[in-house]
Amino acid sequence: MGKITVIGSMNMDLVANVDHMPKTGETIIGKSFEEIPGGKGANQAVAMARLGGQVNMIGKLGDDGFGKTLLKGLQKDEISVEGVQIEENTPSGVALITVSKEAHNSIIVVPGANFKLKKEDIDRNIQIIKESDFLVLQLEVPIDTVKHSLKRAKDLGVYTILNPAPAQKLDKSIIENVDLLIPNETELEILSGIEINNEEDVIKASKSLIEKGVESLIVTLGEKGSMYIDEKGFKKFKAHKVKAVDTTAAGDSFIGGVCVSLSEGKTIEEAIGYGSKVGALTVTKKGAQSSLPYKEEIEALKEA
Ligand code: RIB
Repeated sequence: MGKITVIGSMNMDLVANVDHMPKTGETIIGKSFEEIPGGKGANQAVAMARLGGQVNMIGKLGDDGFGKTLLKGLQKDEISVEGVQIEENTPSGVALITVSKEAHNSIIVVPGANFKLKKEDIDRNIQIIKESDFLVLQLEVPIDTVKHSLKRAKDLGVYTILNPAPAQKLDKSIIENVDLLIPNETELEILSGIEINNEEDVIKASKSLIEKGVESLIVTLGEKGSMYIDEKGFKKFKAHKVKAVDTTAAGDSFIGGVCVSLSEGKTIEEAIGYGSKVGALTVTKKGAQSSLPYKEEIEALKEA
């Protein structure tokens, strides 16, 4: 089995469950509040570990209570945390999340220590990357660190996966070092500058990124499933139908599933099929890491 390294964010999610999303200037009474470990990087790492992946995490936590809780959580899931550093006099990253009864959410990330992850921290941990087969990144750490990590990994022959979330325009120098890009429709639109209204637009926008140097893409389309696009063409994949209660971390768990499957030597088609099951199960439970399924749960789904 291949080894996976995730470079990314670790946040404490401060989650309010509400009947409806507040409008600008409106005060509403929430139904419940919870602190749940999250952060796109940590969510993807935890998803992979629970699915049987061999995972290293590289990132920064603050020297506070949230940092201690988040670190313990990663260790409990048997993720190697040698590359996780505690930044002194800095708060850990937090995410303010509101979830409505229709399972819609809004998220504000305050990065804290995540934004202190520098190129030098990547160089200090280069041995971890060197010994990995896959490197997975998102955009909740500084963009210069993402760029540097992708370049170093590519030079070492490590397969690179980028989840461009939260979305921002990316330089060609970043894009050309990505083997597999996994955006959703909105992220694809921002990255390519092409408005997405239908399947043809997804293909057109993806091709424009392939021309800039991306090897291949999986575009996640929510309830509509996903599409795989590379130089040779495209394939469509259906979503599993489930009753969603909270979509937080659905994309993260999909990526976790895809990556673990690839690390087991499965084809991209098999990996996407597996990722879809993982994502589907995730939305049936509340929260980020609290909703990430274990390998056995996915196997049970297969038999059902
Ligand atoms: O993708 C969901 C995650 O986004 C949350 O856990 C939150 O921390 C933000 O990083």
